[in-house]
Amino acid sequence: MALFSYQASDLFRWITQKDDFVLLDVRNRTDFNRFKVEGPYSIKTINVSYFDFMEIEDECIGRLPDKKTRIRIVCAREGSAKYVAEILEKHGFVDVGFLAGGIKSWGNLLVPKLLNPGAPFELYQFIRPGKGSCSYGLLANEQMMLFDPSRNIDFYQDFADDRNCRIVQTAETHLQADYIAGSRMLSERTGARFFANENDFKGAKLTYTPLQDGADIGFDGQGPPVRVLFAPGHTPGSTMFIIDDACIISGDTVFIKSIGRPDLGGKVNEWSDYLFATIRKVAAMDGGMTVLPAHFIDWSEANSRLNFAESLKKVRSFNKAIYAIDNSRDFLAFIQENMRDQPEEYATIRLVNANLKQVDDEQAEILDLGKNECAASAYAAKQQQQV
Ligand SMILES: [Fe+2]
Repeated sequence: MALFSYQASDLFRWITQKDDFVLLDVRNRTDFNRFKVEGPYSIKTINVSYFDFMEIEDECIGRLPDKKTRIRIVCAREGSAKYVAEILEKHGFVDVGFLAGGIKSWGNLLVPKLLNPGAPFELYQFIRPGKGSCSYGLLANEQMMLFDPSRNIDFYQDFADDRNCRIVQTAETHLQADYIAGSRMLSERTGARFFANENDFKGAKLTYTPLQDGADIGFDGQGPPVRVLFAPGHTPGSTMFIIDDACIISGDTVFIKSIGRPDLGGKVNEWSDYLFATIRKVAAMDGGMTVLPAHFIDWSEANSRLNFAESLKKVRSFNKAIYAIDNSRDFLAFIQENMRDQPEEYATIRLVNANLKQVDDEQAEILDLGKNECAASAYAAKQQQQV
């Protein structure tokens, strides 16, 4: 079999089908440890760097499984994976593919999941496995509204075109710090109305429509209501959107496991109090509603359909210890116990998302790559285990 290139979407499909293959990551150990391919099921992964293949080829070949094994190679850009694929072919490996576009194509991959089959409108979750994040698309009456789109805006445009929809609105749940948001670019390209909360976006160099707490920003009666619910804490302008009184696009406020960090802005005491008040509100909401988070820590949070959607009742039970806290002092203590440094890039990403700093495409790719660190708990524990 000749060498071939594969797409990030192929890789995701093989993982979810539990196909038998070995992922050979040829980036250096530091890059590999910082960010690797993860999915809902375990992946047999081997890290042997491209430089080792150049210097100690035979020894590297000896670290690989037998030559009939399906080997899928990933590298930083594409070239070194292809180079290693050619070495493997020379050594008699029969089924070898290399990832087109390298690890960044995995980082940008969006996987659409229809959440409400059979309903009069369509609500999609776009899972970004490489970031551990989710954006959302609401489609009704040939119109589409997006929530927290990533910078992969061609994907959303193609998705809308395939369904004969126009992207007419895009909304941000908050000023994101962990990835470059796509709403501004989408709105510039399509003319879509851009909704954002002034409490986060004041001073931003953007044209946007300020959100009003309690307003309905749905498609003027041509689709389900989309109710705005201010939910300060993770940021002062954090906002949730309630679709059809049933689904909560919860941003970085409520996760399936954990809640959003209120310490990213350097004002943990103040923001922790906001978040405590918001979480008390969430504690009183209808448990039958479905939580649709902006992030997940890992795939253990997915349901059996491999979506990140869970009833609020279950979310509260997964996070009993958090929802049981009944005073702001204990809440702050919980937050402080879980605090850790934030990645240095977050300050830059915020400026980019407010359009107060411009970066070129390559810088944007670098800033945007890697997993989020938005959860107040669990991730911290996981990180500590890895040290
Ligand atoms: Fe966030």
